[in-house]
Amino acid sequence: MKQLQRSAAAALCLATFAGGACAQTVNVICSVQAEWCNVISTVYARTTGVKINMALKGSGEALAQLIAEKDNPKTDVWFGGTGDPHLQAAEQGLTLEYKSAALPQLHAWAQQQARQSGYKTVGIYSGPLGFGYNPELLAKKKLPVPKTWADLLKPEYKGDIQVANPASSGTAYTMIATLVQLMGEDKAFDYLKALHRNVGQYTRSGTGPIKAVARGETAVSISFVHDGPGEKMQGFPVETITPADGTGAEIGSMSIIKGARNLDAAKKFYEWALTPSAQELGAANKQFQLPSNVNAKLDPRIPDFKKIKFIDYDYAKYGASAERRRLIARWEKDVNSLPR
Ligand code: F6P
Repeated sequence: MKQLQRSAAAALCLATFAGGACAQTVNVICSVQAEWCNVISTVYARTTGVKINMALKGSGEALAQLIAEKDNPKTDVWFGGTGDPHLQAAEQGLTLEYKSAALPQLHAWAQQQARQSGYKTVGIYSGPLGFGYNPELLAKKKLPVPKTWADLLKPEYKGDIQVANPASSGTAYTMIATLVQLMGEDKAFDYLKALHRNVGQYTRSGTGPIKAVARGETAVSISFVHDGPGEKMQGFPVETITPADGTGAEIGSMSIIKGARNLDAAKKFYEWALTPSAQELGAANKQFQLPSNVNAKLDPRIPDFKKIKFIDYDYAKYGASAERRRLIARWEKDVNSLPR
């Protein structure tokens, strides 16, 4: 399918821009869901004649690839995925300082993400962390809807909770960082050990758990709540809730790679991705993060941030390389190694 889209884009490019003017290509790692990534490729090729070579990767996997490619980058732009690994990439000198003229059109949180990275990344969307649940499966199992973090530890949820693995998933790392800020580190790790007993599966991708909830494979997930409505629109029984005791949010980000081979094309794509119309492609493709451009139209299914109790998430601290590495290593050692 992806191959087909690429060929179609290339054919269109040849037809529209005869005479070789269409040789431009941009290599993008895309860390949002496949439908949105694919539409970006198609729309961008159609409107600009530039072909996108798109690779789909979770936030942690994308960072690992960029580290591996450091001396010979094959990627031009990293689009989407949670902000913490983008900040880590900035700190490690993997991404390029670039100040878009569109910055003043962005929400304060997106501009702050740019400032604190020395303009080596920028916020493109935001979304709250919470729980997904399957109301039919909960009713069948006579389980209540979990309302707080503590609720997830109740023995009746044993085996019925899914969350992703923080080494590959930015969603799961956001969960660890949120709990550490909410409870203090040692208590958060006690919590994660207790939660481990109830987790049926740690998935590779952050969206895996809510898809499993939607399909009735598990009753509850720890997920970004903007990933719920898209599943519901496909007819699956899935609802979301944010914990009453407070939660964190991601600042989905975008970065230009240092040493990008197609730098001009990378900058053009980056500018395009910050426009309201490009950002509206998310909701048009069933993905309901809050766009960073204040002029983007808001779909009513985008979570209402005013109704959610947020912690004061310290993006600089939890996006620092040493902190992210340390917390994930502690999770592997203290939590993931335990029997369930
Ligand atoms: O694409 C959906 C989404 O929830 C994004 O909002 C988020 O940035 C990304 O997935 C995180 O994916 P992962 O947890 O696999 O890194």
